[in-house]
Amino acid sequence: MPSILAPSLLSADFNHLYRDVELVNSSEADWFHVDVMDGVFVPNISFGFPILQHVKKLATKPLDVHLMIVQPERYLEDFARAGADILTVHWEASTHIHRSLQSIRSLGMKAGVAINPGTPVSVLNDILNDADLFLVMSVNPGFGGQKFIPRTLDKVMQLRTMLEQAGSQAIIEVDGGVGEANYAALLEAGAQALVAGNAVFGAEDPRAVIRKLKAL
Ligand code: DX5
Ligand code: ZN
Repeated sequence: MPSILAPSLLSADFNHLYRDVELVNSSEADWFHVDVMDGVFVPNISFGFPILQHVKKLATKPLDVHLMIVQPERYLEDFARAGADILTVHWEASTHIHRSLQSIRSLGMKAGVAINPGTPVSVLNDILNDADLFLVMSVNPGFGGQKFIPRTLDKVMQLRTMLEQAGSQAIIEVDGGVGEANYAALLEAGAQALVAGNAVFGAEDPRAVIRKLKAL
């Protein structure tokens, strides 16, 4: 199965957002990864609804929205309205993760759960059939351009086995420090969707990098 590549707009050039969205539209990439940070759950603030709505108007591919915010349940409806196709909340930020997943699905979006590098995959055991996507963070969330944490590979393998045993069709996504050096190994471990920020937008020829990664 070919990988799903989701370039992260966090690393796009915001002076040329239109150009960078068009770049992804016309590339072989599959989704737009959109990182929303609140300055509380993570030590950084990115952007909110106005930017998301503009991206939605221009994007011809699904918006994969990654919420790094506390109490994400307060905003699920707003993100549906703003155009999120996949909405991922952090396990660590959700007291009632099961209810949040149900709400996301009932709003017509695909539901995702993200876990931080310090969170074991075993916490997902009772919700394996309640989400469409599981995002394994391979850096501590908050910033683009960080170094990939190798332990992630074991976590992906473990989660792949858990999903198979549960008969779940959910996708495993990996986010943080992903690039040419680890892309094939992550697919091999069982990841299907890979987020790449700096590896794509930090490159001289982002389109060439996308093509190369998609060929792996
Ligand atoms: C980090 C974000 C990532 C980030 C990835 O908190 O969730 O999506 O944009 O950027 P790179 O690929 O540069 O690590
Ligand atoms: Zn992300």
